[in-house]
Amino acid sequence: MHIRKLLACGLLATSTLLAACATTTRWDKDYAKAPEPVKTDWDLTKQRCTGCHSLERVFLQLNLAKDRGDVEWMVQDMAAHPGSGIRQSEIQPITDTLDWHRTQ
Ligand code: HEC
Repeated sequence: MHIRKLLACGLLATSTLLAACATTTRWDKDYAKAPEPVKTDWDLTKQRCTGCHSLERVFLQLNLAKDRGDVEWMVQDMAAHPGSGIRQSEIQPITDTLDWHRTQ
């Protein structure tokens, strides 16, 4: 693991974020094979979707998604949480990034 990432995880070590830090790298190898801009937007997705829970939760739900619409609904629903930090302009790139994985 990169040293700066380790440091960031250490500094922000609440129990939730610790869980998030432990699991965010699991899908990195899949996204290393993704085309642009999915590959780049994976970093944004990890940032935006690990503030309140781990990515485990996201990918569990992703297994149940039938189409892109399901994925978009999930991202919009999360963006609507108070303090989510997810901008309207980020909904599309995050949806595309998660939907890419669904179709692999
Ligand atoms: C502001 C905090 C917050 C952020 C940021 C956040 N979530 Fe959530 N998420 C929650 C809460 C709270 C729940 C549980 C209650 C609920 O389902 O709304 C949850 C639950 C979930 C679930 C489980 C839903 C289910 O039916 O079991 C999924 C999937 C999910 N989030 C995906 C995401 C994705 C994708 C992102 C990034 C776009 C994200 N979350 C970012 C707060 C957040």
